[in-house]
Amino acid sequence: MASSQAVLTEVPLTSLPKLSTGKVRDLYDIDAASLLFVTTDRVSAYDVVMANGVPHKGALLTQLSAHWFRLLPRLVPGLRTHFLATRAPDALSATDRQTVAGRSMTVRKLKVFPLEAIVRGYITGSSWKEYSAKGTVHGMAMPAGIPECGTVPGGPIYTPSTKAPLGQSDENISRERAAAIVGEKYAARIEELALAVFKAGQAYADERGIIIADTKFEFGLDEETDEIVLVDEVLTSDSSRMWPKDKYEPGRDQESFDKQFLRNWLTKEGLKGKEGVVVPDDVLQATSDRYREVFQRLTGKTLEEALQEES
Ligand SMILES: Nc1ncnc2c1ncn2[C@@H]1O[C@H](COP(=O)(O)OP(=O)(O)OP(=O)(O)O)[C@@H](O)[C@H]1O
Ligand SMILES: [Mg+2]
Repeated sequence: MASSQAVLTEVPLTSLPKLSTGKVRDLYDIDAASLLFVTTDRVSAYDVVMANGVPHKGALLTQLSAHWFRLLPRLVPGLRTHFLATRAPDALSATDRQTVAGRSMTVRKLKVFPLEAIVRGYITGSSWKEYSAKGTVHGMAMPAGIPECGTVPGGPIYTPSTKAPLGQSDENISRERAAAIVGEKYAARIEELALAVFKAGQAYADERGIIIADTKFEFGLDEETDEIVLVDEVLTSDSSRMWPKDKYEPGRDQESFDKQFLRNWLTKEGLKGKEGVVVPDDVLQATSDRYREVFQRLTGKTLEEALQEES
């Protein structure tokens, strides 16, 4: 399977009906039970999508998620995921197959809980802002004296937020509110799984020189078995803050493998939150290089090697 060289912010397919368009992904219906999950090269920051895309981002995110989906059920007993295959479905035409090469996976179609299952192992970003202002993280009191990017005392914590419709910002919510939204029983299991998957991912990444500082998971429900299923993308540089372990130093912002480079550029240019920003090629390339670096460290393969194995 060749990875498409072109940067695609739109990935139009004609042989399957489109179900929905997210900021980064387009979902297509395969049949009653499965979806084609297509990752474009679109990049969003501060809840808005940029006009141009990051080279190879769709393939890097797809292949990294696939890596985790294959690995995690072995690390977290009882974990169910929506992942089915990276092989294109039979229903896809030859042209469409070419268009999505490397950037699509088939997944189980599930009812997704309207909850962002966020886990934080380090105090950074919005939680650092909150902690420096109020001494709390997600409204929970924290000991004094934690430096910027320091670890959360006592280990990773679950800090859910709502999953806002396109164009609106997610809102932090208490665990009680999360339970009210999805139901007590499911809320407890989502929290348990989110923490377990995060810790397993952190330990795996740590051995490969990467700190996973925080992440966002999404979960769905298998209505037949009443089981909670890990869906969406998993532990990628889009959904997580990842830092090189050898350069980690609490007390300052960290160099990072994620969108921080782009976010910093947007902030510097006064473009934070503006729609349709055209990002200069060097910023896009620098972002691509970071995604590629973390992909290689976590999977032990280059993107090209991973795609070769798929073919
Ligand atoms: N197995 C699944 N079945 C149905 N929908 C899914 C499944 N896995 C993920 N989704 C949904 O597919 C969409 C993925 O698209 P994308 O990541 O671009 O969304 P988004 O706009 O980034 O939204 P968000 O930032 O809140 O994730 C999300 O709305 C996600 O909830
Ligand atoms: Mg998403």
